Amino acid sequence: MKKKVGIVGWRGMVGSVLMDRMLEEGDFKLIDSHFFSTTQTGYEGPDLGEGKQLLQNSRSLSDLQQMDIIMSCQGSDYTNEVYPQLRAQGWKGYWIDAASALRLKSNSVIILDPVNGDLIKSSVHHGVKDYIGGNCTVSLMLMAMGGLFKHHLVEWMTVMTYQAASGAGAHNMRELLQQMSSVSQVTQPLWSNPAEGILAIDRGVTEHLRSDQLPKEHFGVPLAGSLIPWIDQELESGQSREEWKGFVETNKILGIENQPIPVDGTCVRVGAMRCHSQGLTIKLKKEVPIDEINEIIKSHNAWVELVPNHKEETLQKLSPVSVAGTLTIPVGRIRKMKMGSRYLNAFTCGDQLLWGAAEPLRRMLRLLIS
Ligand code: HSE
Repeated sequence: MKKKVGIVGWRGMVGSVLMDRMLEEGDFKLIDSHFFSTTQTGYEGPDLGEGKQLLQNSRSLSDLQQMDIIMSCQGSDYTNEVYPQLRAQGWKGYWIDAASALRLKSNSVIILDPVNGDLIKSSVHHGVKDYIGGNCTVSLMLMAMGGLFKHHLVEWMTVMTYQAASGAGAHNMRELLQQMSSVSQVTQPLWSNPAEGILAIDRGVTEHLRSDQLPKEHFGVPLAGSLIPWIDQELESGQSREEWKGFVETNKILGIENQPIPVDGTCVRVGAMRCHSQGLTIKLKKEVPIDEINEIIKSHNAWVELVPNHKEETLQKLSPVSVAGTLTIPVGRIRKMKMGSRYLNAFTCGDQLLWGAAEPLRRMLRLLIS
């Protein structure tokens, strides 16, 4: 019999990407899907080819109790509210979640099966019921560098990120565009006049970016024409929470919390739409020739694409624009650094809504129903 799968938060940004991928891969044919809503109980849900079902109430514990598996893209507030009540009532189903609420609990596994498939399978075997998607930046870094970790080559790593607006949410993506549009419109008389000097144009742009006319309700500051070197909350360590996750989640995904590998860096929001990029410095545990490193990286999983360290290929393949909407994880700029032959430079980019959010969830579902 098909498993009953409750889907919550399917209309939001991550949820919509998840729905599209599940449709593309034919996942709905393999499950008995039930759609839940926080606000539109009883309204018509999505049509998956067999007519529209009515939406169920995502706060009805008795309805949720009927599910074998619940997939949530509704966010941490929902998880914190509903999940403990469901478990307290004795619900034994699988909880697959995109939100971070349960990510670091000792009874949960962070899912990224091309990297920790063995850990996931053995956890299912041992009765673990909570499978949580990782932080997007961490998941994308591990998809790219999985080979080096698998071969136990990483002594430490610094991660300098260039994170897209989508990581902050759909409103922020709109706001980035509003900021671009606003600065472009207001300064158009300057930049469209060939007689105007570039410094005067630049002054006009900066003045507008600093003014109250710039839409910045969501970011609080300009992102267009600028960047934001802080993502998420401030921690006592001096790290941002996003930077802290780099260390904690990487080691949890790899299942090496007892002997963790240092991972740290600076996380920065830039004006990309949905792809996070990362510049990596890796101290290798031993000297390995660059050809071997390339081979280890590219053979780790089916989505990594090695980009030769040349200008033209890099411009064509290693950017948010070339990666958006795809599952490809390009890795390039691979070279030994001036600091010595055990210091490796690399750059990678990935769609934070796909491998960074939706894809590990649907793959976990597949694993559970197979
Ligand atoms: N925290 C990430 C970001 C989003 O702000 O870009 C997803 O993990």
